[in-house]
Amino acid sequence: MQDQAPVKTAINAEEIKSASTLLKAGQLVAFPTETVYGLGCDAANVEALARLYRVKGRPGTHPVIVHLASVEQLKDWAQTVPAEALALAKKFWPGPMTLILKKSDKVLPEVSGGQDTVGLRIPSHPVALALLKEFKSGIAAPSANRHGRISPTTAAHVKSELGDLVAKVLDGGNCTVGIESTIVDLSSDKPRILRPGMITLEAIEAALNEAKQKEKKSSSKKRQATESKSSTASENTVIPRAPGSMSSHYAPTTGLKLFAHHNLPRAIATSESLSMKISVMAFSAPIVSSCVITWKQLSEDPNECARQLYAYMRELDTSGADYIVVEEPPELPEWMGILDRLRRAANG
Ligand code: TXA
Ligand code: MG
Repeated sequence: MQDQAPVKTAINAEEIKSASTLLKAGQLVAFPTETVYGLGCDAANVEALARLYRVKGRPGTHPVIVHLASVEQLKDWAQTVPAEALALAKKFWPGPMTLILKKSDKVLPEVSGGQDTVGLRIPSHPVALALLKEFKSGIAAPSANRHGRISPTTAAHVKSELGDLVAKVLDGGNCTVGIESTIVDLSSDKPRILRPGMITLEAIEAALNEAKQKEKKSSSKKRQATESKSSTASENTVIPRAPGSMSSHYAPTTGLKLFAHHNLPRAIATSESLSMKISVMAFSAPIVSSCVITWKQLSEDPNECARQLYAYMRELDTSGADYIVVEEPPELPEWMGILDRLRRAANG
């Protein structure tokens, strides 16, 4: 089992004040969110954004998510707030979802990566919310790792990754979701998932359809329901299954290979015959072999597995293995976020 530090929900008001003051002064502050730790800066400060990109080693054309404390702030950052955005915000915020909307004039090109959209999110971690409330404006925050590397899910991960390059690291314990937010693009005519996460496509479709039905009911009441009704099924929101592609790899430095359950014994036998050393992350019980250095057992509960994922990847990355062998999770809705990160890691 992973050492699970309890989520630190006690808010140290002095720490939050001092973090907010540092952000106002253009400094970088890493903070916990329920998904992963973020590397935060004032989203309206060009120099701070430049510092953030430098520390992360991220290309300037890569947009960053702006974190907010309340739905009321949306209008400051988005040009328009469509009904779908309000429906998803109501259902899933504060929480592990990012909405891509047409950006307002206020959004700097350094935040939007030069595009006409902006990513917005209200996180649910109490420390993140306290910081955002104290700061009273948008905090730009990518995951607090070096570009393309594994996202941090503890304050210790952030410190080992970024060391003294940040002015402050707020410690909020282990992240309770464990992988990055689900990103939903609402900037064009049809909603699209750009990055799957622990909020499933099915849950998003259901929330959008529910909001649509409510809206229809109230407008048809107004029209006294005289016109013939069109089929509701054909008007249901159906989001394309394939997520949009994003370049980040979420990858360990050690090579990572994915295997289906039935191929796992063969993969291990092959490593043994080639005298390769491997570390394994699998749902299956350990297979005894001289080639296995470490075997991390993954939970069959997707929520628990998401919490284990990055910490295990980090651990196996320093285990001295020639490569990491991972047993692929099932191709089911609640596993899509995890599967996506593993496939990207295998590509990294
Ligand atoms: O859970 C999360 O989303 C975490 C926490 C800290 O909030 N943040 C996070 O940020 O994962 P980052 O920068 O590591 O990943 C955000 C992804 C990037 O791949 C970026 O390209 C995409 O979101 N993104 C941000 N703004 C966008 C926009 N306007 N259009 C399309 N994609 C966008
Ligand atoms: Mg990231």
